[in-house]
Amino acid sequence: MMMRVILLAAALLATPAFAQKPAAKPAAPHPGAEVYQNLCQACHMANALGGVGAGRIPALAKNDALVDAAYPIAVVTGGKGAMPWFRGSLTDQQIADVINYVRSNYGNRYRDKVTPAMVAELGLPAPKGGRGE
Ligand code: HEC
Repeated sequence: MMMRVILLAAALLATPAFAQKPAAKPAAPHPGAEVYQNLCQACHMANALGGVGAGRIPALAKNDALVDAAYPIAVVTGGKGAMPWFRGSLTDQQIADVINYVRSNYGNRYRDKVTPAMVAELGLPAPKGGRGE
């Protein structure tokens, strides 16, 4: 009987130690996340839902228009309406990274990856004059 109590007590004492999982390694941040936070979030918002400010900012979250990667490549490189262009201020790699980030986050689940070569090939030239970012 005594032995049983001791074993039980030992088991109870040991449990918290077993319950403690080793600290999970934080996942490396997506390389496009920083670009998004620094440049896109001001307009498209932290949750990518866009909004209405100086103009209407479309949501990038759950956005069917992102299905064809050529479309966001064209918009980000060449701009569109009140959306500034980023060709010239971001590298093709950074443009690919931020598009991949948006297309695989905020409820978007597009698996094909944009490469810097695709940005170079499909991207629009920065418009002459006017305002880039
Ligand atoms: C100054 C505000 C502003 C910034 C900064 C900005 N956008 Fe936009 N974005 C817009 C506006 C406004 C539109 C809508 C353009 C239109 O359709 O006339 C838009 C449209 C888009 C679209 C097309 C969405 C659709 O449904 O047609 C994509 C993709 C996009 N932005 C991605 C980005 C990314 C990625 C960044 C950061 C690199 C970024 N935007 C930075 C304002 C901005």
